[in-house]
Amino acid sequence: MFVSIYVLRVKLTVLNIPTVLIFYFILGELENGGSIRLKDHTPTILKSNKLGVVIPFRERFDELLEFVPHIHSFLKNQNILHEIFVLNQVDQYRFNRGSLINAGFKEIMLSFNMIDYIAMHDVDLLPLNPELDYHYPPTGHVNHIAAPHLHPRYHYASFVGGILLITKEDFIKINGLSNNYWGWGLEDDEFYLRLKEAKIGIHRPGNLSTDTSNTFRHNHDRTVRKRDMTKCYNQREVTRKRDRRTGLHNINYIVKKKHELLIDGVNTLVLDIELKCNKTLTPWCLCSEYGMKNTKNQKKGK
Ligand SMILES: *[C@@H]1O[C@H](CO)[C@@H](O)[C@H](O)[C@H]1NC(C)=O
Ligand SMILES: *[C@@H]1O[C@H](CO)[C@@H](O)[C@H](O)[C@H]1NC(C)=O
Repeated sequence: MFVSIYVLRVKLTVLNIPTVLIFYFILGELENGGSIRLKDHTPTILKSNKLGVVIPFRERFDELLEFVPHIHSFLKNQNILHEIFVLNQVDQYRFNRGSLINAGFKEIMLSFNMIDYIAMHDVDLLPLNPELDYHYPPTGHVNHIAAPHLHPRYHYASFVGGILLITKEDFIKINGLSNNYWGWGLEDDEFYLRLKEAKIGIHRPGNLSTDTSNTFRHNHDRTVRKRDMTKCYNQREVTRKRDRRTGLHNINYIVKKKHELLIDGVNTLVLDIELKCNKTLTPWCLCSEYGMKNTKNQKKGK
């Protein structure tokens, strides 16, 4: 049945080389007495789920040079099909991790990469313990790799930052992340509320032989990399609440450029992302205009 349809198609289309090749391939299979279904000819590798490692990024090139080869061999050891995407914020606004991930996700879905799930991944957090399982998350769950009992620094129960695996479907379902979080932190706490509301469970690694001190390497020097914890305008009030207005569906950005980077032989796609800020809605995307008088520094963070 299938073969006759194919013969028809070959007749109907201009004979191009790929079609002819497929045709001969099918004929060859018939001669070998095989039964034919297109599915059987798909290499098995396409059947496993493909991971997109998405890395919100700005300026930390030295950390990236370390991270990319590390995560590549870590995932290779687990036989995980993956691609690495660096979401490089190139506008003049404050860093916005949530918006970068939304923009990156959209770009990945528009391309032909066939990503089934993503790892929202900090560039400065390197998994060390091979028991950390980066496979497709269990049904109805995200997989929070950088769990509170393993992360070097954050130990509160609702913490979902650092490294989180989520399926494409679930990411769409909860409308991605809020776009309101300019500056460092808290977007992951809002993301936790989205998961909870959608009744998506949080799976975390259990029974590991390592703990907070040796599960990850936290490549972060706080004296070199100052975190932008400034809060200006009404940022503090707004970002304390669940955001029902913004997310994946209304992320506003343009991709300025794409770079294919080879880091120690590992392919990496760098997307230069220019985020747009609506200053009526989130004037705190730039605090410099607000004036020092009203600017407060949140010392404690999370
Ligand atoms: C942890 O390991 C113990 C002993 O091997 C086992 O009984 C238990 O079910 C494991 N727990 C989880 C969450 O995997
Ligand atoms: C910014 O947001 C306001 C309030 O929702 C809206 O009226 C306005 O059109 C937006 N501006 C732009 C440039 O999108």
